[in-house]
Amino acid sequence: MKKIIIAIDGLSGCGKSSTAKSVAKALNYAYIDSGAMYRAVTLYFLNNHTKLNNIGEISQSLDRVHIDFHLDGNDGSQRILLNGVDVEDEIRGMSVTERVSDVSKIKEVRQALVAKQRILGARKGVVMDGRDIGSVVFPHAELKVFMSANLEVRAARRMKELADRGHSADLEQIRENLAKRDFLDSTRSESPLVKAKDAVEIDTSDLHFEDQVAKILELAKERMN
Ligand code: DC
Repeated sequence: MKKIIIAIDGLSGCGKSSTAKSVAKALNYAYIDSGAMYRAVTLYFLNNHTKLNNIGEISQSLDRVHIDFHLDGNDGSQRILLNGVDVEDEIRGMSVTERVSDVSKIKEVRQALVAKQRILGARKGVVMDGRDIGSVVFPHAELKVFMSANLEVRAARRMKELADRGHSADLEQIRENLAKRDFLDSTRSESPLVKAKDAVEIDTSDLHFEDQVAKILELAKERMN
C-alpha cells in the first residue's frame, strides 16, 4: 500500500483535530495540527508585543520563531514546542484563541508556516488538519476531507474540550468566538477557508466520533491502493 497525504480542513471546532489524530493512529501515520502552528506564532507575537501592522516587526519575529512537535510519552500524542518550550496547553486558552484569526490572515505568517508544513508532509504518511491544507498546502493530497458541523454542536464540543484541558470557559463566549472565526477565516483574502473542489464533505453534527473516523479510514484505504 502506498503512503498518502490526508488533508482534513473545515470550520473551527468541528472535531478535525481529534478525528485526524485517530485516523493517523489507526494508519500509523504522523499527525500534524497546523492550527497549533498558527496558535504558537500568535502566542509568540502576544508575548513579544509584535505589532500586527508592522511588516518589519512581523518578519523579525517570524525569524525568531522555531516550531517543532514532540511525542508525549504518556499517550503518544503530539505536543507543540515553541522555541523548545511545550506550549500545547497555553495555546488553547482564550487569549490566543481570540487573536489567532488576526495573525493567521497575515501573508508573511502564512508563507512561513505553509513552507514548514510542506517540509513536515514531504515524506507522506501524514494526516494534517487545518483550513487550507487541501486547497493550498497540499493541492495534490490523495485524500481531502472537508468537515463541518452546526454551531451549537461545535460550541458544546469545544466547551468540553477546554474543560478537559482544565481551562474555564463560557458557552456564549465560545459560540461567539467560533462564529467570528468562521467569518474571518472564510472571508480573509489570503488562503480563505474553502472546500477544495475534490474534497469529500462530512457533516459531523449527527455523527458518532467512531463513525466519522471509520468513514475517513475507508476513503483512505481506497486511495492507498
Ligand atoms: O484549528 P484551530 O482552531 O486550532 O486553528 C486556529 C486558527 O488558525 C483558526 O482560527 C484559523 C487558523 N488556521 C489557518 O488559518 N490555517 C490553517 N491551516 C490552520 C489554522
